[in-house]
Parts: sequence; C-alpha cells; structure tokens
Amino acid sequence: MKTLSEIQAILADEIEKIDLAKEPQGVYAPIKYILSLGGKRIRPALALLACNLFSEDIVPAINPALGIEIFHNFTLLHDDIMDKADVRRGKPTVHKKWDENTAILSGDVMQIIAYQYTCNVPEKELKRVLDAFSQMATEICEGQQYDMDFEKRQDVKPEEYLNMIRLKTAVLLGTALKIGAWLGGGNDTDAQLLYDFGINIGLAFQLKDDWLDVYGNEETFGKKIGGDILCNKKTYMLIQATLLAQGEDAKELSTWLESNDSPKEKIDAVTAIYNRLGVKKVCEEKMEYFYERAIKCLEQVNTPEAKKQELRNLAKKLMSRNE
Ligand code: IPE
Ligand code: IPE
Ligand code: MG
Ligand code: MG
Ligand code: MG
Repeated sequence: MKTLSEIQAILADEIEKIDLAKEPQGVYAPIKYILSLGGKRIRPALALLACNLFSEDIVPAINPALGIEIFHNFTLLHDDIMDKADVRRGKPTVHKKWDENTAILSGDVMQIIAYQYTCNVPEKELKRVLDAFSQMATEICEGQQYDMDFEKRQDVKPEEYLNMIRLKTAVLLGTALKIGAWLGGGNDTDAQLLYDFGINIGLAFQLKDDWLDVYGNEETFGKKIGGDILCNKKTYMLIQATLLAQGEDAKELSTWLESNDSPKEKIDAVTAIYNRLGVKKVCEEKMEYFYERAIKCLEQVNTPEAKKQELRNLAKKLMSRNE
C-alpha cells in the first residue's frame, strides 16, 4: 500500500515527463506553465488511491490519473477567463500572462491530451473508462453554464446551487475514484460507493472553496480574495445571506449586487453582511454534513479498513485546507 506522499511523488514525476517541448510553443508553453505550478493534484491522487484499495499495482491507473489532472487544468484555463480571474496558484493566470486566445487554444489542446492519456488503459477497460470520462466532461460544462447563468439570477435556490457544484466540481472527484477503482479490479458496487464518496467530498470541497474565496488567505489560497463576490457568484453563502437578510441588510445586499463600481468596497460590504448574518457558520455546517456523508460511503466499501486510511486522511485534509 502506498502513502499519499508516495503517490504525490509518482505523480510529480509523471507530470514532469509529459512532452511539452514542442512547436508551436505559443500553445504548449502555457500548458507547461500551468502544470508546473502544481496545485494540490488531489484528483489523480484519488484515482491512484482508489486503485490501490484493490490492487498493489497502481500502474494501470497512472495514465487516466494524468488525463484527469490535465483535464482539470484545462478547465481552470477556461474558468479563469469566464471568472475574470487574474491570479491562480499564486501566479498570473494564463490569459493574463499571455492572452485570452492563448488560454482558449491551450485549453483546447489540453482537453485533447487529457483524452489521449485517458485512452491509454487496458483494452478491456477502455469503453467504460471513456464513457465515464466523457459523461464527467459534459457534466462539468453543464455545471459551468449553470454557474454563469446564476450570476444573472437573484432567486437561485440552495438545491440549485448544490446541483451546480455537483456538476462543475464533484463529478470530477467521483469519476477519478471510480476509474481508479475499476483499474484496480474493484467491483461495480465498490466503484459506485467510491464515486459517491467523491461526490460528497467534492460538494464539501466546493463549499470550502467558496468559503476560502471570502475568508481565505490570498498567499496560501493562491487566488484573489473576493473574486466570487465581484462576479455575483451565487455561492451557498450568498444564497443564504439573501434568504436571511432583512431590512437594511437586504436593501444593502441587493444594491451591491447591482453595482461593481468600487470593487474593494463591495467585497468589504458584502463580507460584513455575511458576518452579521452568520452565513460563514451555515456554510461550515453544510460542509460538515457532506463530509460525514462521504465518510459513510467510504465505510461501506468492501476492503479492509486499514487500506482506507490514506483516503480518509486526504478527505480530512481537504476539509481543513487553507489553499
Ligand atoms: C480548483 O481546484 C477548482 C475547484 C474545483 C474549486 P483545486 O483547488 O483542486 O485546484 P488546484 O489544482 O489544487 O490548484
Ligand atoms: C471551479 O469553480 C469549477 C471549475 C473550474 C470547473 P471555481 O470557479 O470556484 O474555481 P476557482 O475558485 O476559480 O478555482
Ligand atoms: Mg468558476
Ligand atoms: Mg473560477
Ligand atoms: Mg472558487
């Protein structure tokens, strides 16, 4: 059984080996750039840990794990254009360092490379792996569209938000685990339980990401604080604030949702409203709820408890993360 840090070392090594010293560098250099900035690489780690639950040999899962990480990085290139984000992993985003066309095209190529890696699995696994991957990829786009649509709406319900983050974020974690389980020889029941574990961890993870976007530390988080507030992102906190706010708070909140003239004032004012209404805690409780549901799914997976320890540790780490 491998530890998370051993798995992270294998991944770092494999990512380093991806050949991006190709022409035209205009399209490949940004790929090298975003991949070399690292990130937490939790999705490929989940795939390899899931594989390792059922098999000592994790090699068959390495290619799809890389495919999943490259795909994730592709979504970030396009997401940062859509979210007008200037900073990612503590560095300028690709569309800022180069330009939007570059981020679009490098992202497109990354998506293709992601498929090439994912296809590289034992022949008998190919169809279901590709089907799962393609379903996940489509769902992320659906989630991203809801995310954009919701910026313009003021009546987004908590359930709609949860469905949106399931699509844009959680399915990628779930699919990574499911594919990893299959390639380790796990059965469909266990692969599905791991998928559900990933969905619940993913929901908690996105709730925490939204929380960090307001309450995080810019240095460790690596993104600009308040970006979601400036885009009028319908995060769980904003939805709860809209539901809870009354009188002056309600008026002030709806005024800010219509104005982007003074970004710093807007971030401060909306954060102050969140603080008065206590939505930080409401968000934390929802995170905790999904975390516990995730652990219940993991408990039902039919492998010795000791083997699940690394997945448990990773899940726990994600809940207390500040990056
Ligand atoms: C960022 O994902 C996008 C979200 C789903 C919130 P991560 O927080 O996993 O980003 P990196 O890869 O570690 O930078
Ligand atoms: C992440 O949502 C979803 C995808 C990138 C598909 P966010 O927009 O919250 O992610 P960050 O905060 O930019 O990393
Ligand atoms: Mg986004
Ligand atoms: Mg974003
Ligand atoms: Mg975010």
